[in-house]
Amino acid sequence: MSADLRSRYLGLELTSPVVASASPLNEHVDSVKAVVDAGAAAVVMPSLFEEEVVAEQLGLHDALAAGTDHVSEALDYFPDLPELLTVADRYVRTLEALKAAVDVPVLASLNAAHAGSWERYATRLVDAGADAIELNLYSVAADPMRSAADVEAEKLAAIATVRAAVRVPVAVKLSPFFSSFAHFAHEAVDAGADGLVLFNRFYQPDIELDTMEVVPRVDLSSSVELRLPLRWIAILRPLLPSVSLAATTGVHTGHDVAKALAVGADVAMVTSAILREGPGAVTRILAGLQHWLDEHDYDSVGQLRGSMSYAATDDPTAFERANYRRVLHSWSGPVT
Ligand SMILES: Cc1cc2nc3c(=O)[nH]c(=O)nc-3n(C[C@H](O)[C@H](O)[C@H](O)COP(=O)(O)O)c2cc1C
Repeated sequence: MSADLRSRYLGLELTSPVVASASPLNEHVDSVKAVVDAGAAAVVMPSLFEEEVVAEQLGLHDALAAGTDHVSEALDYFPDLPELLTVADRYVRTLEALKAAVDVPVLASLNAAHAGSWERYATRLVDAGADAIELNLYSVAADPMRSAADVEAEKLAAIATVRAAVRVPVAVKLSPFFSSFAHFAHEAVDAGADGLVLFNRFYQPDIELDTMEVVPRVDLSSSVELRLPLRWIAILRPLLPSVSLAATTGVHTGHDVAKALAVGADVAMVTSAILREGPGAVTRILAGLQHWLDEHDYDSVGQLRGSMSYAATDDPTAFERANYRRVLHSWSGPVT
């Protein structure tokens, strides 16, 4: 008999542990339908960005302020109705359309660096049908006047604000760049996170030498990058037994999903593979997972989950510093 792929994430019952993570594809009904038909058990929408919302609020404020000086002409300033929809309005409409189109959970994503006014937006997303909120706390701590404690306090305040505002589960997507990641993960859970999504992939700007410009570059991931989430999920699983953990970055094959489950992830999320190959990547990954589980006589993904976590493995130091020395000494290539 085939292994049972059914999984649970953030209290949501899923047909499998493979989720389509936030990407531009997940804001179009057709591409979301295709990725769900291919087997994605849930879909995360691309983020509603704090900067976009704030910029739009400022722009609208300026436009209205300008209009008040020219009352007689003011009516001419009102654009057509579609233009009056804010970024948040459009996001809500997309969410409603996706919810109507697919019967898997749809997670809305907020991308914020500050506590701000997220309450209002999070509530609107839940009212529009979001099954859970993914809060992406992407920021670059470049201000030398702000300590690690200041930066962390702000992130925790953002989590607590969103958590207090909504009745659905809240997952927090984090970067690995904390001095004491396990401590911050605990604090995030204490602040109200029901799940952690590990890790945010940082896109580093490049320099265009011909024009001497800083240019954005989006490179898709490879399976090698999964090792960082694997390490931290292995470490966190026994520390946070009742918290949902999602692996993101570097999930490209069924074997990658099996590894993520083995260290204790509840789900593995996929973006790069789908962008590179199309929705068929999900079918391929699920078939690979099913094949591996069946070949190794697993009855279910639940049986595999956590079997290689920090607590379960025979050699927990393999996830810590001792492994660093061992890895360096294991190099067997040429030394010239
Ligand atoms: C083009 C592109 C757009 C993305 N947009 C978002 C986004 O809006 N919000 C978010 O949290 N992550 C976003 N991500 C990150 C992905 O959700 C995912 O975490 C990351 O790509 C690592 O997974 P992968 O190795 O499967 O690509 C984006 C990634 C790509 C490549």
